[in-house]
Amino acid sequence: MKLILLGAPGAGKGTQAEIISEKYNIPTISTGNIIRAALKNGTEMGLKAKAYIDSGRLVPDDVVIGIIKERLAQSDCQGGFILDGFPRTIPQAEALDNMGIAVDAALSIEVADREIVKRMSGRRVCEKCGASYHIEFKKPDVEGICNVCGGALVIRKDDEPDTVIDRLDIYHKQTEPLKDYYKKQDKLIIAHGQQAVSDTTKMVLKALSEI
Ligand code: AP5
Repeated sequence: MKLILLGAPGAGKGTQAEIISEKYNIPTISTGNIIRAALKNGTEMGLKAKAYIDSGRLVPDDVVIGIIKERLAQSDCQGGFILDGFPRTIPQAEALDNMGIAVDAALSIEVADREIVKRMSGRRVCEKCGASYHIEFKKPDVEGICNVCGGALVIRKDDEPDTVIDRLDIYHKQTEPLKDYYKKQDKLIIAHGQQAVSDTTKMVLKALSEI
């Protein structure tokens, strides 16, 4: 299974990717997580990306395409993968095609903007491993502590309401056209993000079983 997850910031791509990854035993490649890890480690790429990621703007295509090329060449991607957050622009999608990578499907998780703004205010992420939680919809076992690694849960800098609105605007202008791009390739699947995480999962897994 070679899958692209599309959807607005906060639509639940990372949440569903974690579940699909376990079910199909394939890695999730999240460009957002890779960039945040580089930022935390103070690498040259991380420092270059900081201003973009903090303000919710897209990191330049050449940087992200380079990250993906390197990551997809690793052996754990041989049996398939989930791309979470890539491609995000038409040139990124074209670059993937030019790498000779034929995906099986591009699954778009659709959630209304007003719901996204509400959701993002409740997201908490582990400052150590990046695992994602929600104060109402996906609570950790112990408040403020990551179930996976015991790290502290914090608010992501780009989840400030004004930044979320800017990210949504960028999504509609630059990323949403990818739906048409994959529709033309007959690879687009739409799943409507539901109120509960488990309901969205049911829809997503059903859609994937029909590919
Ligand atoms: P990235 O990390 O990819 O962020 P994003 O796409 O904006 O997506 P999010 O991680 O914010 O949300 P998500 O859809 O994964 O939702 P989640 O599952 O967490 O990118 C960050 C930045 O990196 C970008 O702004 C850009 O600067 C840069 N970048 C990354 N890739 C790039 C690229 N290709 N090109 C250029 N720049 C790039 O869910 C959100 C919350 O809702 C969670 O708290 C969750 O628990 C909760 N939730 C999930 N599902 C449900 C549900 N069904 N019901 C209720 N709550 C739910």
